[in-house]
Amino acid sequence: MDIPSIPPVTRFAHGSRVPGWDTAVDLEKDPAAIPDGATTPVPAELRAEIEVHMAKYPDVRSAALPALAAAQRVHGWCSPEAIVQTACVMGVTPASLEAVATFYDMLETDKPTPVEHHSIYVCTNISCSLLGADALYAAIAQAAGEDPAINVRSFECLGACELAPMISVDGDYLGPLQTSDVTELLDDVRAGRPPLPSKQLATKPCADAAAAPGQPGSAKGRVTLLLDGIDEPGLATLDVYRRRGGYDALQKALAMTPEDVLDELNSSGLRGRGGAGFQMGKKVSFLPKGAMAKYLVCNADESEPGTFKDRELMQKSPHMLIEGIVIACHAAGIDTAFIYIRGEYSLQADVLEAAVSEALAAGLVGESILGSSHSLKLVVHRGAGAYICGEETGLLDSLEGKRGNPRLKPPFPALQGLYQSPTLINNVETLATVPAIMRMGGAEYAKLGSEGSTGTKVVSVSGHVQRPGNYEIELGIPSREIIYGLAGGPPEGREVKCWFPGGSSAPVLTAAELDVPYDFEAMAKAGSMLGSGAIIVVDDSTPILDVALKVAKFYAHESCGKCTPCREGTNWTVKMLQRMESGDATPMDLEIMAGVQENIIGNCLCVLGDAMAMPIGSIIERFRDELQEQIERSRLAEVA
Ligand code: FES
Repeated sequence: MDIPSIPPVTRFAHGSRVPGWDTAVDLEKDPAAIPDGATTPVPAELRAEIEVHMAKYPDVRSAALPALAAAQRVHGWCSPEAIVQTACVMGVTPASLEAVATFYDMLETDKPTPVEHHSIYVCTNISCSLLGADALYAAIAQAAGEDPAINVRSFECLGACELAPMISVDGDYLGPLQTSDVTELLDDVRAGRPPLPSKQLATKPCADAAAAPGQPGSAKGRVTLLLDGIDEPGLATLDVYRRRGGYDALQKALAMTPEDVLDELNSSGLRGRGGAGFQMGKKVSFLPKGAMAKYLVCNADESEPGTFKDRELMQKSPHMLIEGIVIACHAAGIDTAFIYIRGEYSLQADVLEAAVSEALAAGLVGESILGSSHSLKLVVHRGAGAYICGEETGLLDSLEGKRGNPRLKPPFPALQGLYQSPTLINNVETLATVPAIMRMGGAEYAKLGSEGSTGTKVVSVSGHVQRPGNYEIELGIPSREIIYGLAGGPPEGREVKCWFPGGSSAPVLTAAELDVPYDFEAMAKAGSMLGSGAIIVVDDSTPILDVALKVAKFYAHESCGKCTPCREGTNWTVKMLQRMESGDATPMDLEIMAGVQENIIGNCLCVLGDAMAMPIGSIIERFRDELQEQIERSRLAEVA
């Protein structure tokens, strides 16, 4: 399929906002800096793999992340030699690739690890730490000792919080683990065996589907559109998906005009499930009409701590997402789409790639889909570990092969997005809902849920609950029904102290707010937000300072550092919380910290600063007394 070429003048013009980017990156201005192919030996297999990646994109520089990942695999790390070889094949400067590689957690640029090594990533983010991840990390690090073949790292949320505390071993997810599992784990890793088979994520059923009929949390009696039959063996294959009626919605959509499909999306009232909650149909209608390069980017960079629904949907029902993407592209007149999936989701990326290949072979993507005039090129693009790439413009820069820095808005992606072209960006769950809407009709879908929050929502529940996992609910049910009815509530003898309704960036609510309906409007009215639809429950055994520090440290680590309120504000907050812990804080620090949060909110280029300031501000507001007591207690302990 012909991909319209992009005028060179408009490409990457915005890259100049990165310090040194113009001089370091724009190689068309300095061709002498590109390594000479005649004097730069590149292993044939590496060259071939990089060239395959380059061929997928309208601009070869978009291949930077997969190319660097391939070079890292060959060299063991992103060594200067690996970067020069990659630059040589891509026809770009090593400096430009070095600028990219240093941005991403999964690209290792500063320490030579052996080629043959095992990576153990221990998640120490909020849901895992509530269940003992810090002690687990210490135990694994101690057991691994100085073994050069084992690389143990503490990692941010890996998107499997229902397994908390969990780890990833060479990309395989395991959990929940206890410190007592560590010896067996290390024995398995050193022997090259699949570690702790009974703890592998791949074997776990969906919490929603696993709930027994008639029991609290049973799926019976609830409407399940996305999780219905999610654990059916082989659902990830085209055969089984089609046997269940898969791609019928696409057939129906292709028989309709794009305008009629858009009408269905509009009448469904479907709001984005990624965080902002913007109506999908409206987003599509913002795209300029007419023949021009337009793109759809599926945001599968699910990295908001506490969120793991997209991972389960992609892993178990990839064709549902693909079908939704093809229908959305038909409605929007788009012929090129990308699924940007977070780098840690390697299993899910493999599943998606296999599903895209199957769909391509069956004529469900590619040229003249099902004999229609609609064609679509669909590419799965793997990220490399950076929370900020979940922000839509950071994601676009990353997809263009750059550091994932957010862009100034406006212009919005609907007008100037990927490669400066109009771009529709939607989250996995949003797009996966589209086939159900086409099957039942937009008006029928809108009867589900509440007035401003139609339909169903997959909610990830983690932290201090007895049955963590993904549950599909009709929007508007009382939050208590999710936390207690479906997820079983806190362990015996414990009470809810606070809960994050929409991932760790949502302001916390307390036990007194458990009856707030779970929908966009009610959450906003209660002073919080639905966000990514991830509920993290904290029970009354947990000091609130621990929760605040864990959240603040995460956002400080993930800040790209571009704007001052975010860069400085997140770090100041961490330091002030640490002072409270160490006994160096005074009661005045609490007021200063509250003021810092107020000065961050609304004053940053993207929402990352707000993502820390909102929960921390709500913690100060709702748990002021406990924090005051903590300051006093720590000061007295310090003096003693
Ligand atoms: Fe550990 Fe999400 S996987 S917090």
